Amino acid sequence: MAQLWGGRFVGETDRLVYQFNASISFDRRLLRQDIEGSIAHAAMLARQHILTDEEADRIRQGLEGILADAESGKLAITDEYEDVHSFVEASLIGRIGEAGKKLHTGRSRNDQVALDMRLYVREQVLETDGLLLSLLKTLLRLMEENLDAFMPGFTHLQKAQPVTLAHHLGAYFEMFKRDRQRLRDLCIRMNYCPLGSGALAGTTYPLDREDTAKALGFFGPTLNSMDSVSDRDYVIDFLSALSVIMMHLSRFSEEIILWNSDEYRFVEIDDAYSTGSSIMPQKKNPDIAELVRGKTGRVYAALTGLLVTMKGIPLAYNKDMQEDKELTFDAIDTVKGCLTLFDGMLRTMRFCRERMEQSAKRGFTNATDAADYLVKKGVPFRDAHGMIGRLVLLCIDQNKSIEELSLEQLKEICPLFEEDVYEAISLKTCVDNRITQGGPGRRAMEEAIRFNREELEKDWKEAFQR
Ligand code: ARG
Repeated sequence: MAQLWGGRFVGETDRLVYQFNASISFDRRLLRQDIEGSIAHAAMLARQHILTDEEADRIRQGLEGILADAESGKLAITDEYEDVHSFVEASLIGRIGEAGKKLHTGRSRNDQVALDMRLYVREQVLETDGLLLSLLKTLLRLMEENLDAFMPGFTHLQKAQPVTLAHHLGAYFEMFKRDRQRLRDLCIRMNYCPLGSGALAGTTYPLDREDTAKALGFFGPTLNSMDSVSDRDYVIDFLSALSVIMMHLSRFSEEIILWNSDEYRFVEIDDAYSTGSSIMPQKKNPDIAELVRGKTGRVYAALTGLLVTMKGIPLAYNKDMQEDKELTFDAIDTVKGCLTLFDGMLRTMRFCRERMEQSAKRGFTNATDAADYLVKKGVPFRDAHGMIGRLVLLCIDQNKSIEELSLEQLKEICPLFEEDVYEAISLKTCVDNRITQGGPGRRAMEEAIRFNREELEKDWKEAFQR
């Protein structure tokens, strides 16, 4: 057991207590951030004449060596250390001796871990945004390719009005676009540096917190040291944004699972993204979509878990906060994996446009348009609604769609029907006339795509690139 706080203790820490307390098994993931923060801290200490330049230099070289050796596998991060901070400090002292013992001047593990976690979360926010961007590009391409792919639009999972595949995919485009905005917002909110807050009440050393904040790519230092060491809002913000991403992916997965079923056959998932059954030879299961839907639960669990962990914690740092890591790391890995696989599944999926169009034709999705046709001929909408209702009953009885009825049959319901009705209620007309902003009509869709293409060009991450 190698620990930093042996001085005031007489008895040896019980092994079980030690293991229960330790976080090295999971916070080793913060090694790079821990070292980056320590290098910035040491450089600032030298500028403030708290360390000599020579000491700061040796510390930097020592830390860089630790990182390089840990990354190459030459240096193992073993369980004999309590946490990643102890590991780094002990290794540094082992390498450079006396100067290494000065690194922790004016610092506590409380502001250290607060910094490490912030650096890590910020990095992961940017990576997640990159994956969303790639998914949005896939969606935009599919939208452009499917402006005329007619399909039924649903409400209550009942066929409602015709739309296009481009329009349906466009709905998901908007969701994932908002997800990126959420990431940008939280990244801006969290981008302040807690280093220099000490254990909870700052320090008597003349630290330059602006200096370390700038060196580490933050807008500036945080403004209250007690809040700084105990704030995990940004982790909760991130988990919340990740949960919403999963909610969107899960809804999309659910549709793909339905569309891939024999009842719909709107899509065919590529073999690479499907799996077979061990007993039923005919099966090709949409496992990836199902797993994405299923994994949504564990990401929500991480958010709920941390909210519950934080709710009763008095100021300032308490050890409960160590629980911010495992669930968060798992949620991040899960969402990144899901986004990557989902994008791949979408890129390789086959859309059965013929089948979608047939389906749109079969479900009376043009009934509203037939009523509107009569309205244009002077029938009040409520009366037209009733007439078309009777028409639909007739169609069901004869197993036909509205446009398959003869003009005579139509005139029996309402004498105002003319030959031009067939054109007016064709799938193409129904869709193309819906050109209110945000509608499925070709002109409205082209407008939306042009706008979104321009939006995608603007990459908010530039402000955070270092
Ligand atoms: N492993 C700890 C954590 O993750 C680091 C901070 C420890 N601070 C302390 N006062 N014991 O929260």
